[in-house]
Amino acid sequence: MIMKSAGELLEQKIRELKEQKKAVILAHNYQIPAIQDIADCLGDSLELSKISKQRPERLIVFCGVRFMAETAKILSPHKKVILPVREAGCPMADMISPDDIVALKKQHPDAWVVSYVNTSAEVKALSDVCCTSANAVSVVKNVPVKKIIFTPDRNLGWWVQKNVPEKEIVIWQGFCVTHEYFNVEDLRRVRSEYPDAEIMVHPECRREVLEEADVVLSTAGMLKAARASKARRIVVGTEEGLLYRLKKDNPEKEFFSLGAAKICVNMKRTRLEDLARALETEQEEIALDKDVIEKAARALERMLEYV
Ligand code: 13P
Ligand code: SF4
Repeated sequence: MIMKSAGELLEQKIRELKEQKKAVILAHNYQIPAIQDIADCLGDSLELSKISKQRPERLIVFCGVRFMAETAKILSPHKKVILPVREAGCPMADMISPDDIVALKKQHPDAWVVSYVNTSAEVKALSDVCCTSANAVSVVKNVPVKKIIFTPDRNLGWWVQKNVPEKEIVIWQGFCVTHEYFNVEDLRRVRSEYPDAEIMVHPECRREVLEEADVVLSTAGMLKAARASKARRIVVGTEEGLLYRLKKDNPEKEFFSLGAAKICVNMKRTRLEDLARALETEQEEIALDKDVIEKAARALERMLEYV
């Protein structure tokens, strides 16, 4: 008789519970490999929000951080959305509050508030439109106003301003505590040591890193670009979880992190044990105020209109 390991037994339990409860498991590209492997769908913020709406299952277990699970709930309020680890938050999302948005609107009454999805549901509800790293440039280009308040990421805001010079953008000074550690010295060192390598970075990196990289892309954008790239060696400036999938999808290419690997502790909180428990107990359920859901949904749906 073949004995199963503890990990295999846990995976089996997750599959059985998922089947029994008719649930779907969604996971962000930064999750640990074991979660990426067992998830039904893997993606960036934009892909996962679209998938959460399209999937027929009424129970969504979202392996990611709180704002992502909240986005799924906002877009599908009739579904039950579970975040396996309640403490899995995003420090960048905590850098802007609803009161900050109210004050900004008072200061700039003629501007539209464009909020990155890395925000709380309450902040989204006070925003005119949302964006993700994959569509921020087109959203800002296409909104029917000249003046924008962009929150909360100063680096994505700077990248958008560079690409949409015709708009006046007031940029909030939030940032990602993980991407902040990528630096231009590492980028220059990689360039001189591996001149043939392609350097892809996420727009949450600091502006001097964005300026010198070959391409600036969301995590899904990097996956697509890596498949199409002629380079055999690709250096990636984003959370190290993405490297697992990049290597899996492109075994003929080599992938390296830009400098030492950077880890988002919140993205790494969810383990197989947490996923099994979440399926069993259906906790922690995302609960949002009805009015917040309605207003935040308008900002998220507008995002899809303006891309
Ligand atoms: P993506 O939408 O590119 O996956 O980014 C989400 C995020 O939180 C990056 O830090
Ligand atoms: Fe938030 Fe940065 Fe982690 Fe993304 S990588 S979830 S922006 S802290």
